Amino acid sequence: MPLIRECVLTTLSPEGRPHVAPLGLIEEGDCWIAAPFRPSKTLFNLEHSGKLTASFTDDARVFAGLVVGQRSFPLTDIENWPAPRLSCALAHAELEIARVEEDAVRPRFFCRVKHTESHRPFLGMNRARAAVLEAAILATRLGMLSREKIDSEIAYLKIAIDKTAGAAEREAWDMVMEKIAAHFANIR
Ligand SMILES: Cc1cc2nc3c(=O)[nH]c(=O)nc-3n(C[C@H](O)[C@H](O)[C@H](O)COP(=O)(O)O)c2cc1C
Repeated sequence: MPLIRECVLTTLSPEGRPHVAPLGLIEEGDCWIAAPFRPSKTLFNLEHSGKLTASFTDDARVFAGLVVGQRSFPLTDIENWPAPRLSCALAHAELEIARVEEDAVRPRFFCRVKHTESHRPFLGMNRARAAVLEAAILATRLGMLSREKIDSEIAYLKIAIDKTAGAAEREAWDMVMEKIAAHFANIR
């Protein structure tokens, strides 16, 4: 399996409006591949605008916030590049679509990395942040996974939260847990 970099992708609508969504970029050769499932705003935008920006952050609240529907994270314009980055990004990459592999379910947009830039130091891995990321991904797949699978994965991930989370990670975890709880409350 290739390396996947979890990022926040800024794509542009045909009118040039930025849209941010968490997405995994798949590394293949000298390309990074964005592979959004149909239907999604990100996919629509990629079909209409070939320039995008990946923001890299270690703030778990960004991923948690995005999966619970918060979209108003501050953005910063990039000189000579149309898609802005997250203002809180530790680093960003400017990506241009080189080719597309069409697919009825999940087309693949092969992007060339035009430029990368760092903005803040990265101060180390943290298990709780990784656990929030995993839980955030689960929270985008609630309709596809069984209750048992979700419960058992959350129970395991919570160990890292209990042992290694700071206040920001606990806040992020709680946001994701609320979304999962609301989903199960609605289908009862
Ligand atoms: C860390 C993370 C990685 C994700 N990676 C993908 C991905 O590679 N492809 C995808 O379709 N959705 C992915 N998702 C889910 C999308 O963010 C979600 O479908 C989102 O709503 C995009 O839809 P939108 O463009 O309409 O906003 C990911 C979610 C998270 C939290």
